[in-house]
Amino acid sequence: MSVQKEVKRITTHTLELMKEKGEKIAMLTAYDYSSARIIDEAGIDVILVGDSASNVMAGHETTLPITLDHMIYHAQSVVRGVSRCFVVVDLPFGTYQGNSKQALASAIRIMKETGAHGVKMEGGEEVVDSIRRILSSGIPVMGHLGLMPQSIYKFGTYQVRAKEEAEAEKLKSDALLLEAAGCFGLVLEKIPADLAKEVSESLKIPTIGIGAGNHCDGQVLVMHDMLGINHEFKPRFLRQYANLYDVINSAVKHYISDVKSREFPNEKEQY
Ligand code: KIV
Repeated sequence: MSVQKEVKRITTHTLELMKEKGEKIAMLTAYDYSSARIIDEAGIDVILVGDSASNVMAGHETTLPITLDHMIYHAQSVVRGVSRCFVVVDLPFGTYQGNSKQALASAIRIMKETGAHGVKMEGGEEVVDSIRRILSSGIPVMGHLGLMPQSIYKFGTYQVRAKEEAEAEKLKSDALLLEAAGCFGLVLEKIPADLAKEVSESLKIPTIGIGAGNHCDGQVLVMHDMLGINHEFKPRFLRQYANLYDVINSAVKHYISDVKSREFPNEKEQY
């Protein structure tokens, strides 16, 4: 039987064992109770309450505006919807970069107020003091390297990162540093597949890729993208498993037409 199926609740230890046994980890984002419940019941291993909520829930152009209070609200809703998967929450921009004391205070708020199981933060060497301090308080931390959307104004583009040797070398040493600091996992976003393979093979902790090829220990997608709710976003790495934009759009058109034509409600739908 698979490691994932043997356990009642996925923990950092389960994820570590899954890597050891070569069992891939499936992770998706969620930001609300109802979606979290569906994807937990479908058997997802990890839910990320991503700061991509800033884009897909609030309609901002970047992940920068979302606040810690907003993330806590989303995480509380998600945690109420799940019973089995591991829930990790993004520390939003500006809540951990200042200093390690601020980072710890933000992580503690997330853990205390939401009931989530860990936090994720973007960056390598620049944030490792904060990561160490959070870990020393017993809070599991997931790292995030490669394309880091909170640094979009520094990068200037959402294109593939670490194609050049210097950036690839820094990413490899950051990955080792995060593992040595005690991170339980590492998201690798939009980097060449060969580099993701090398990093994944150099680490004991699982790597979770998004646009980082098939050799990562798991994969993550933004739920709205893979369900085709956000139907205009079609990067090469995205596989769209449904077209909910069309499903919802046509259901709503049907409803509008039924209301206007007095077809809804009918006799059976009234008291
Ligand atoms: O916020 C998010 O959704 C993420 C994933 C893209 C990994 O960080």
